[in-house]
Amino acid sequence: MRTLIVANWKMNKNLAEASQFIQDLLAIWKAGGPGAHSTEVVIAPPYTALSPTGEALTGSPLRLAAQDVSAHKEGAFTGEVSAGMLADIGCEYGLVGHSERRSGAFESNAIVAQKAEQLCLNGLKPIVCVGETLGDRESGDTAEVVLEMLRSSLPPPGTPGRDKLVVAYEPVWAIGTGLTASPEQAQAVHAIIRDCLEEEMGEAGKRTRILYGGSVNPQNVKSILSQNDIHGVLVGGASLDAIEFGRIFGYLDSEDLPS
Ligand code: PGA
Repeated sequence: MRTLIVANWKMNKNLAEASQFIQDLLAIWKAGGPGAHSTEVVIAPPYTALSPTGEALTGSPLRLAAQDVSAHKEGAFTGEVSAGMLADIGCEYGLVGHSERRSGAFESNAIVAQKAEQLCLNGLKPIVCVGETLGDRESGDTAEVVLEMLRSSLPPPGTPGRDKLVVAYEPVWAIGTGLTASPEQAQAVHAIIRDCLEEEMGEAGKRTRILYGGSVNPQNVKSILSQNDIHGVLVGGASLDAIEFGRIFGYLDSEDLPS
């Protein structure tokens, strides 16, 4: 499976900063080693920078993602952006169910599933985020919490394009904290996610890419990606600087990665 590296800028970067980043990143990508060229790199800017960033990426191998999407198709939903609008400006992926949306905007699994469905219906690939809190982990409930979240956040069976979705496992306690799940801890959760995806989606579930996210940086990325069921990473803080992000994908040695 091709390694997928996603930069989630969250609420950072104005247009000038976004443009400078893409210019720097493209230069790094061109100069990168074999690892750079065997990975799929996706950038998720804030809404205001989506369209210009998409234009700057045109003709490059780098892809565009939205950080969120409306659960509705169209209509009187002030402040929301539909999946169709995202498709219109060249987005290929969309994040749904990020823990900052689940906690900060009180998004339920049902809403996340509707958002994922809207993305699929408009030809975008949802990146469905799931993860346990520190409390869940300490009380031994990680597997139960993550699996319930995953099952209830998937678009309904039969949704066209459902087989292309990506899952991101992001333990809430590791996001933006500098704490990272150990590669073994992450692998253990990825393995149960894999089993669940196979149960829910059959053959397609065997091919679904499962990303890890939570304080990924150039120092820990190789050991994280060395695990069997980890097919990429979702990077927040370390994706804001082009050189640091470039180190995450640009110098990965493809021989180090599982096939
Ligand atoms: P972080 O964020 O890399 O800053 O921990 C990851 C994420 O929230 O997707």
